[in-house]
Amino acid sequence: MKFFIDTANLDQIKEAQNMGILDGVTTNPSLMAKEGITGHDNILKHYVDICKIVEGDVSAEVIATDFEGMVKEGEALAELNDQIVVKLPMIKDGIKACKYFSDRGIKTNVTLVFSPGQALLAAKAGATYVSPFIGRLDDISTDGLNLIAEIRHIYDNYGFQTEILAASVRHTMHIIDCAKLGADVMTGPLSAIEGLLKHPLTDIGLAKFLEDHKKANQ
Ligand code: E4P
Repeated sequence: MKFFIDTANLDQIKEAQNMGILDGVTTNPSLMAKEGITGHDNILKHYVDICKIVEGDVSAEVIATDFEGMVKEGEALAELNDQIVVKLPMIKDGIKACKYFSDRGIKTNVTLVFSPGQALLAAKAGATYVSPFIGRLDDISTDGLNLIAEIRHIYDNYGFQTEILAASVRHTMHIIDCAKLGADVMTGPLSAIEGLLKHPLTDIGLAKFLEDHKKANQ
């Protein structure tokens, strides 16, 4: 399973990259706003800065909601760097734009996916990635992980190449469960990724090894 970090924070992206486990980055307009990145030129520059830190795919979301607008914005984003993946909302014009870009070899990520039917449409339109939002489903008492299982089942039935990018991952167990269910990619915060490191027996064991080494080498 590929690990993407879901942030526009350059320090956190560098931290994950320096661990050597990062495969890419996802952003969205809310995450860009959270970092105080505003204005067309600054936003484009920020995507370029992110691409300089990581080697993998970087999802950059369009703001337009009509086909022509999405094509214009997406083409400008894709020209920034080969790593850019044009992120499109799961609406009718978003699916049309996804087909437009996939026909031209431009990578796409269909976002805000909350049902198996939406994921089926994204795959039919040739999306590179589909982003089911598991945390936001959990937020409304619906099983987000079940959606990952359903999409995996459907895609495997027909050999769809669209990668399942489990999004809205909120904590460490989401990552483990996504791996069990066969998600191709997960995107989550640095805290969820770093949570994978933790086990009290590792800490206790390491302290004992160091203590025994110190005693034996006094
Ligand atoms: C996906 O690409 C989105 O950026 C993201 O995962 C949304 O997560 P949230 O529901 O925690 O905002």
